Amino acid sequence: MADSKPSSKPNSQLQISRLEVADIDAAITTIQLAFAGDPFADWIYDRSKFSPKRNHASLTIRMKWGMRNGHIYVAHTPERRCAGVAMWVGPKPLDEKPTWDDWWQDWMLWFRQLGMNTRFGRGGLKVERYYLWKESQSKLQSSVWTNPEGYWFCNILAIHPDCQGKGIGKKLMQEVFDIADAEGVPCYLESSKFEPNVKIYERMKFRFVSDIKCDDGNGTCTLFSMIRDAPAIKGGEDESTSESSEAEGSGKDVDILPDAVIP
Ligand SMILES: CC(C)(COP(=O)(O)OP(=O)(O)OC[C@H]1O[C@@H](n2cnc3c(N)ncnc32)[C@H](O)[C@@H]1OP(=O)(O)O)[C@@H](O)C(=O)NCCC(=O)NCCS
Repeated sequence: MADSKPSSKPNSQLQISRLEVADIDAAITTIQLAFAGDPFADWIYDRSKFSPKRNHASLTIRMKWGMRNGHIYVAHTPERRCAGVAMWVGPKPLDEKPTWDDWWQDWMLWFRQLGMNTRFGRGGLKVERYYLWKESQSKLQSSVWTNPEGYWFCNILAIHPDCQGKGIGKKLMQEVFDIADAEGVPCYLESSKFEPNVKIYERMKFRFVSDIKCDDGNGTCTLFSMIRDAPAIKGGEDESTSESSEAEGSGKDVDILPDAVIP
C-alpha cells in the first residue's frame, strides 16, 4: 500500500455480501496478497519453510469456522470477486462463560487444525513465538477490554493490493460499524503496522490504545491495538439493548492473523 493518502472514492458498483463457500478461494487470494511482507507474519514464520498450501488449508478451515461462529463480509467490484475481506467475531460479555456450543466448535476447529498439521506440518510457523504472541495479546486485552458487553473484534481485514485506497476497506467495515453502533458496543482490532494503518483506522473512528511488543530475544514484533467507541445511544438506553441484536457472535479469538500471509 502506498504511504500517501489516496484520493479515489469507493466504486459505486461495489457489492458487499456475507462470505459463501464458493467465495473462499478468491477471499484467500486477496488475504494472501494483502499480507505479503506483513511484519507480524515475517516475525512468526520462518519464510524459508513457509507453505502456501498449508496456509490455504488453514485459512479455509478458519473461514468455515468464521462463517458459522463469526461474521465474514466480502466486497466485490465488477472486475474482481472478493476484492476485500473482513472477518469479525461478535461481542461476548466479559464475564460470560463459554457455552457448550462454543466448546464443541473449539474442539471441531482443533481437530481440523490437527488434521492440517498432520498433513502439511507447521509450514514454518514458529510455535514458541505463536504462544508468546497469544500470551502478550491476552494480557493486553485483559487490561484494555473494559466494556462489560464485550467488543466486536475485527480479526482480519484485507483489501486486494490493486484495490487499496479506494474506500473499499471503510465500506466493508461499515457493515459491522452499523450493527455495533446500534447496539452501543465498541469495536476492536490489532494492526501489525503503525504506518499507514493507524491513520487509516483513525479515519474509521478507531483510536490507538496500546501496543503489544512480542520479543523472544531474537526478534521483536509490535502489534497496535485500537478501539472504536460506540456512540451514546439516544434516549438514555444503555448497552443492554445489544441483547436484541440478531448479529451476536461467540466472542472467540480465532488467531487468524498469523495465517494471513504469502511467502
Ligand atoms: C489497511 C487496509 C485494510 C485499508 O483498506 P483500504 O480500502 O485501502 O482503505 P480505504 O480506501 O477504505 O481508506 C479509509 C480511509 O483511510 C484513508 N487512507 C487510505 N490509505 C491511506 C494511506 N496510505 N495513508 C493515509 N490515509 C489513508 C482514506 O483516505 C480513507 O479516509 P477518508 O474516508 O477520510 O477519505 C488495506 O489497505 C489493506 O488491506 N492493507 C494491507 C493489509 C493490512 O494491513 N490489513 C490490515 C491488518 S490490521
